[in-house]
Amino acid sequence: MDVNEALALIRRVPDFPEPGVLFRDITPMLGNAEAFRTVVDAMAATLDDVDVVVAVDARGFFFGAAAAYSKGLGVVPVRKAGKLPAVGGRAGYSLEYGSAELEIPADIIQPGQRVAIVDDVLATGGTAAAACELVELAKAEVAGITVLLEIGALDGRQRLAGRKIDALLTV
Ligand code: PRP
Ligand code: MG
Repeated sequence: MDVNEALALIRRVPDFPEPGVLFRDITPMLGNAEAFRTVVDAMAATLDDVDVVVAVDARGFFFGAAAAYSKGLGVVPVRKAGKLPAVGGRAGYSLEYGSAELEIPADIIQPGQRVAIVDDVLATGGTAAAACELVELAKAEVAGITVLLEIGALDGRQRLAGRKIDALLTV
């Protein structure tokens, strides 16, 4: 199976979580063994010259953990606020309505490490920008951002100007 066949398994669900939003449901792709392996391998191939992977809560965990395993790297979760017992830093980001916060575990990422951030989707870039901020708070370097899917119209790339961004598909 090639990457495009795997990505074609993403289900589009209109009007979720609210009217007017077209939700990209990755579960049919995750549940297909060949598709999951294909996209994880393609994401892992972007992780050269990387010391450790940061995977973003929640859907980024699937891809970040699997790609890190495949490359023989460790994986560090960046989590929604309130989930981690030992917090190394917190960064806010805006949502369409309101805001949210991400946290990074204390003392896991070492200063100077090259860190790849992995998530499922890049939309407005708020989540990835907050993850970058947390990596840099830990005095580490963002080697790049790897996502399955980039929603081009939302200009996440502009918000992350200067960053290396690898997306398997841009829609
Ligand atoms: C979704 C998606 C990305 C983020 C992208 O996460 O998984 O992490 O939004 O949007 P942005 O580029 O506009 O920030 P969300 O927090 O909605 O849900 P999740 O916990 O299921 O990953
Ligand atoms: Mg997410």
